[in-house]
Amino acid sequence: MAESDLMEKIISLAKRRGFIYQGSEIYGGLAGTWDYGPLGVELRNNVKDIWWKMFVKSREDMYGVGTSIIMNKQVWEASGHVAGFADPTETGEKFNVMFKTTVGAGEEATISYLRPETAQGIFVNFKNILDSFHPKLPFGIAQIGKAFRNEISPRDFIFRSREFEQMEVEYFVREAEWEKYFEAWRDTMHEFSKLVGIKNIHELNVGDEDRAHYSKKTIDFEFEYPFGRKELWGLAYRTDFDLRNHSGASGVSLEYFDEESGERFTPHVIEPSLGVDRTILAILASTYTEDELGGETRSYLKLPKEVAPVRAAIFPLLKNKPELVIKAREVYESLKDENYNIVFDDNGNIGKRYRRQDEIGTPFCITVDFDTLGENPEHKDTVTLRDRDTGEQKRVRIGDLKEAIK
Ligand code: GAP
Repeated sequence: MAESDLMEKIISLAKRRGFIYQGSEIYGGLAGTWDYGPLGVELRNNVKDIWWKMFVKSREDMYGVGTSIIMNKQVWEASGHVAGFADPTETGEKFNVMFKTTVGAGEEATISYLRPETAQGIFVNFKNILDSFHPKLPFGIAQIGKAFRNEISPRDFIFRSREFEQMEVEYFVREAEWEKYFEAWRDTMHEFSKLVGIKNIHELNVGDEDRAHYSKKTIDFEFEYPFGRKELWGLAYRTDFDLRNHSGASGVSLEYFDEESGERFTPHVIEPSLGVDRTILAILASTYTEDELGGETRSYLKLPKEVAPVRAAIFPLLKNKPELVIKAREVYESLKDENYNIVFDDNGNIGKRYRRQDEIGTPFCITVDFDTLGENPEHKDTVTLRDRDTGEQKRVRIGDLKEAIK
C-alpha cells in the first residue's frame, strides 16, 4: 500500500467510525484543531491510563499533578518561552507560537499565555511537592494535560496541531547522576511504545543547533509516519535551567535540602515528554492492517486489547429471534466491566458486524447462536468466541468468557 494511501485510509476510518473529526467541522473547520469522537476518546483514555499506571501509579518515586493551562506571564518570561519559543515565518520574521490572551477586564486586564508545554506547571509546583510530601531525590512529578501552540503550518492530521495533549514527567536528580536516569527513562519509553502497539521507533540524537534552549541532550523518538520519519516523543536533559530561572525570577528558593549530607542544591531534570495525539496517530499507523479473510479483503486495527476502545462485542446470531436476543443481552450484562467497554450489536448481518468490529480493532466478538440455547445439547450454554486477527472461532462456556477476554 502506498504511504499516502495509508494516511487517507486512516483519516477516513477515523472519521467514519467515530474516532476523530475535524474541529468546528460544520463551519468549515478551524485549522490545527481536532475533535475526538466516542471511540477516539476511549482509545485516548486507554493510552493515558496505561501511561499513568506505568509512569506514575506503579512507582513510589512519582507524584502526579494537574495544573492550570493559563499561568502568570512571568512563568513564560522566566522559562525563556517569551523570548525564545518562536518559529521563523516565510518572510523570515520571528513569530512566537504561544497563544496570547488577556485575563480580567478593563484596566485590570493582564496579558497571559496558554501553556505551550505542561512542564512549567510542574516546575512552579516543585516547592509545593517538597513541602507536602518531603520526597527524597531522585523523584519525579508528572502530568497529563492540554498544551497549545499557534503553529504556523499545522498539518498531517493530528501530527501537528494547535491544541494537543502531552504526558510529561520532570524527574529531579543529582547532577552527577543525570546520565543513569536518562538511560532508565529511555528504556521505559521503549517499553511503553511496545505496550501500546507502536512499531519501529528510531532514536535521533538531536544536534546542538536543533535542541530546545533549555536542553543539554535530547533524544527524539522518531516514528515512520506515512508522511515520513518524524518526531513522536522527546527525552531531554534540561539541566537545572528551569528551577534555577524560576528561583531567580520569583525570589523563591527552589533548592533541595539533603538531610543526610546537609547539602543544599538545585536538582537537575530528565524529561520524558510524550504527545498523546502523536501517540494515537503512531498506534493507528502501526496497527492498520489489510488482509484477506474468507475470500474477502478486510481492513482492521490490530490494537493491543488494553488499548482497543471496545474489548468485546456481543451478538445474537439473528436479531429477529427473541430467544437469541434475550440470551445475548444476558451474556452482555454478565460481561460488563468497569475496566473496559463491552458492546451489544445486532445491527446488520453477522458478517457486517464482524467487519465493523474488526475495523475499530475490537479483539473479541462473541456470538450467541442456536447451539447456545441447546439445539446441540453438547454446546448448551456455550458461545462462539472469535479472534479478530485470525477470524478463528472457538466455542467457550459462557461462564469462562470473562477470563477469556481479560
Ligand atoms: N516539555 C517539552 C516539550 O514540550 P516538545 O518536543 O516541544 O518538548 C513534546 O514537545 C512532545 O509534544 C512532542 O514530542 C510531541 O509528541 C508533542 N507535540 C509537540 N508539538 C506538537 C503539535 N504541534 N501537535 C501535536 N503534538 C505536539
